[in-house]
Amino acid sequence: QPKPVLTGKKILITAGPTREMIDPVRFFSNRSSGKMGYALAEMASKLGADVTLVTGPVDIIPPQGVDLVEVTSAEEMFEQVINRFEKYDVIIKSAAVADYRPSQTFTKKMKKHEGTLMLELERTQDILRTLGKRKSNQYLVGFAAETNNIEEYARVKLESKNADMIVANNVTSEGAGFGTDTNIVTLFKRGGYKRELPLNSKKEIAKEILIEVANSLKEEGYK
Ligand code: PMT
Repeated sequence: QPKPVLTGKKILITAGPTREMIDPVRFFSNRSSGKMGYALAEMASKLGADVTLVTGPVDIIPPQGVDLVEVTSAEEMFEQVINRFEKYDVIIKSAAVADYRPSQTFTKKMKKHEGTLMLELERTQDILRTLGKRKSNQYLVGFAAETNNIEEYARVKLESKNADMIVANNVTSEGAGFGTDTNIVTLFKRGGYKRELPLNSKKEIAKEILIEVANSLKEEGYK
C-alpha cells in the first residue's frame, strides 16, 4: 500500500481521445486508449486524493471511488474542465484532445459521389492553454506526445501553456505512448528540471508522476 501523499488534494484528470463528428456515423479521432489517464486516476485515488476523471470514449472499466465525467468531443471536454477546474488543487491533462474538428457536422449521413471530397477543418480550443491563462493556485500538468525534438517541444509547452510540469512521451518508442500497457516518459518542470522514467507499466509511471506532483506541491509551497 503506497503512502497516501495526496490526502486532502482534489485532482482533476482527463483521459482518452475525443471524437469530432463528421456526420451521425463518422468521426475523426486518435489512437488514445485512455490507459495512461485511467492509471493516473486509479493511482491518485490510492494515494489519497479526491479524483474526478473527465474521459473521452474508451473501453476501460473506471476505477472505483473516482467521480466520472464522460464526454465525446473536444468542445465538451473543454466545457467540463473549464467549468469545474477552480475547485481543484491539481489538474492533469493526459487526454489526447483533437486539435481540429470538421467546420461543419452534417445532420444526415453523407452520400458518396464521384471524385474527391474536400472537408474543411477548424481549430478546437486548447484546454491546457486556457487553464494556464486562468489558473490561480492550481498545479497544472500537461502531457506532450511527440515523435521528435522531445525536450525542445516539451520546454516550449511548459512555457507557452504556463504549465507547472510536462510529461513528455516519445510516441515512436517501442512500449511507449498510445494503446500500450507501458510507457516511457520524461518529466520537465520549470527551472530546467528534468527526470527520465524508463519503461514501466502505466500504473507505475502514474505513481511516479503523482509522487513527483506531491513533492512539488510541498516544495513550492502550495496550500
Ligand atoms: O491513452 P493511452 O493509449 O494510454 O495513451 C497515452 C497518451 C499517449 C495519449 C498520453 O500519454 C499522452 O501523451 N497524452 C497527451 C496527448 C496529446 O494530445 O498531446 P499533445 O502534445 O497533442 O498535447 C499537449 C497537451 O495539450 C496535452 O496535455 C493535451 O491534453 C493538451 N491539449 C491539446 C489539444 C487541445 N485542444 N487541448 C488540450 O488541452
